[in-house]
Amino acid sequence: MADTNAKLTVNGEEYELPIIKGTLGRPVIDIAALQESGFWSYDPGFKVTAPVESKITYIDGGKGELLHRGYPIDELANNAEYLEVAYALLHGDLPTADQKADFFEKIREHTAVHDQLRKFFEGFRRDAHPMAIMVGVVGALSAFYHEDLDVSNEAHREITAIRLIAKMPTLAAMSYKYSQGEPFMYPRNDFNYAENFLYMMFATPADVDYEKNDVITRAMDKIFTLHADHEQNASTSTVRLAGSTGANPYACIAAGIAALWGPSHGGANEAVLEMLDEIGTVENVPEFMEKVKSREVKLMGFGHRVYKNFDPRAQVMKETCDEVLEALGINDPKLELAMALEKIALEDPFFIERNLYPNVDFYSGIILKAIGIPTSMFTVIFALARTSGWISHWLEMHSAPFKIGRPRQLYTGETRRDFVKVEDRK
Ligand code: ACO
Repeated sequence: MADTNAKLTVNGEEYELPIIKGTLGRPVIDIAALQESGFWSYDPGFKVTAPVESKITYIDGGKGELLHRGYPIDELANNAEYLEVAYALLHGDLPTADQKADFFEKIREHTAVHDQLRKFFEGFRRDAHPMAIMVGVVGALSAFYHEDLDVSNEAHREITAIRLIAKMPTLAAMSYKYSQGEPFMYPRNDFNYAENFLYMMFATPADVDYEKNDVITRAMDKIFTLHADHEQNASTSTVRLAGSTGANPYACIAAGIAALWGPSHGGANEAVLEMLDEIGTVENVPEFMEKVKSREVKLMGFGHRVYKNFDPRAQVMKETCDEVLEALGINDPKLELAMALEKIALEDPFFIERNLYPNVDFYSGIILKAIGIPTSMFTVIFALARTSGWISHWLEMHSAPFKIGRPRQLYTGETRRDFVKVEDRK
């Protein structure tokens, strides 16, 4: 709520701009009065702009704090299942035992996809990137649920959230199976969320003795939790912006998946492994570091727009990474290389001065590789996990009046000029 005003003087005219305080974090200055001033605000990259009010996630980048609905991320990742976290993101609190049972059951009921959707996959080349497939098939879900697509109807919004969270592992695993030329595996509803995803990824119909691995399942579930939400990041802002037009939620989530794909965002864990391939061996690390310092390349998996001391998700991820590597007895030179790179970067003044620390994607890439997940699936797994966050933000936006997102610009193009016929153009 506004309890005091900031004053801004533009061309001799004074504007009172309300200062609004949230429950945590920096207060904001409401600049709506600038509308009258003849100026726009200018903030490339939205570095100091809060376009929304939200109750879902709080980040203190300086302290390295991440809270979902008030709960610290490490407590959630170490004690709760991903679906409980998803419930909290959607509903505001962690579920009671009854609410948990009911929510998990609803998710189980919706894990299967319409059989017709299988045909979509056949339209893609076998070597298509699974993120390309995900953008297509998730958007296509809107063609399957016309009857529940009234975004002003709360029940429709709720069932859509359930469907999306339930079907993402199935679609993600299908995109992998398709690339391998293997048959799709139907979800098994006696398995939990992470077990089911791993089963649909790695089992085959011939595999009658498929065995679950508890360490891997728990690591997978933690990866889901650690990627579930991150307030107004690029993909979540994309989902909100698309949603602000009244677009259907499947299309909005497809837009979020597209935004996540980029290497500066969700594509970073895939880029980490590509970088390790490029470096090759530990001996080549110093030469690579020189390229980083001369700004030829970035050290992927390092740095964050918000966290400038450490990424709290990376801490949990590092512990999980150690557990998985130990449990699987992995001795992969690429993983050794990653650890050597981490050590050198953490001690190098270039990184220390710029507050560049490993982010969650540095370790998640390593864990996923150890589990046997192919690199091209890394960002898909991020998208799967982030779906609960995206749809929670979409629901939050729809639970109160909102305006279409329509930024302004600083125009620096040609001024008005006359049309010239093609034969007279020079
Ligand atoms: N490697 C080398 N230098 C870096 C890196 C990096 N990974 N990240 C930032 N820097 C440098 C910049 O060159 C800049 O140096 P300068 O001040 O000498 O010019 C300084 O650190 C500040 O960096 P910015 O680009 O201003 O930081 P910004 O907040 O805009 O970027 C970002 C954050 C995009 C995440 C960046 O750190 C990056 O590209 N990292 C690698 C990609 C990555 O891991 N992305 C995943 C993010 S986490 C997620 O999406 C879940």
